[in-house]
Amino acid sequence: MRDPRTIVITGASSGIGQALALLYAAAGRHLLLTGRDRGRLEAVAAAVREREATVETTIVDVTDADGMAVWLTAMDSQTPIDLCIANAGISAGTGGGVEDAEQARRIFAVNVAGVMNSIHPLIPRMQARGRGQLALISSLAGFRGFPGAPAYCASKAAVRLYGEALRSDLAPHGIGVSVVCPGFVRSRMTAVNRFRMPMLMDSEQAAVIIQRGLAANQGRIAFPWPLYAFIRLLAALPGSLTDPLLARLPRKGQ
Ligand SMILES: NC(=O)c1ccc[n+]([C@@H]2O[C@H](COP(=O)([O-])OP(=O)(O)OC[C@H]3O[C@@H](n4cnc5c(N)ncnc54)[C@H](OP(=O)(O)O)[C@@H]3O)[C@@H](O)[C@H]2O)c1
Repeated sequence: MRDPRTIVITGASSGIGQALALLYAAAGRHLLLTGRDRGRLEAVAAAVREREATVETTIVDVTDADGMAVWLTAMDSQTPIDLCIANAGISAGTGGGVEDAEQARRIFAVNVAGVMNSIHPLIPRMQARGRGQLALISSLAGFRGFPGAPAYCASKAAVRLYGEALRSDLAPHGIGVSVVCPGFVRSRMTAVNRFRMPMLMDSEQAAVIIQRGLAANQGRIAFPWPLYAFIRLLAALPGSLTDPLLARLPRKGQ
């Protein structure tokens, strides 16, 4: 969609979601923003209003399926939603040990079920209108299982494949689906990493690339391209070649 007017962004209180909210903020736009930290979310909303967009915020956990459905349908009934960016997500690593089941469950709940809860209440409504756009935030980590972050990689692979399949199913209904696969982006999520992140970029720069890709209804918005190409190559090579190399990578903390 070239000029979406009413836009949902989950996880808008920080990082990529915040940068997208500020980038889309303009006169004539209505932004519907969620997060969990009220102070940070309201600060983003205030900055959005300064750019002459209208904005509504709500504090809702994306794992709360009923809460998300109630909020999304109420907002959509007020002003039909053009674009929903399912961005909220969490990450955690193993810190060099083995991931415990509770951490893995929590990552799946937020990153996978949370994305489902953010898009599914809107799909029948967009189908009825014959228009709409969904953006699912995955990651370059969703192309290969990286040691130290099993649940994070698997959750992002699930989102990527789900979105790719959904794209073909929803295209005949006039609904665009894009899967967004960023590399390393500066945010609260990466601020805790104690290792060198290749091609680390600012969230504002990432938001511009995402907005451009969504305007062109790209199925996959993967960036930066050299890191994307490298990860595709890693994923294509046999594990016997790549596992020893990957085993030496530093691990994200738990
Ligand atoms: N940064 C990267 O390098 C990178 C790379 C690839 C993909 N991504 C993906 O990009 C997305 C945004 O990440 P980010 O880097 O911008 O991280 P971030 O700064 O930590 O922002 C994450 C956002 O998600 C929200 N959130 C987390 N859990 C939530 C929950 N259960 N319910 C509702 N909201 C929740 C947070 O809200 P509160 O802070 O208010 O709790 C925050 O607004 C994530 O899906 C992430 O996996 C990031």
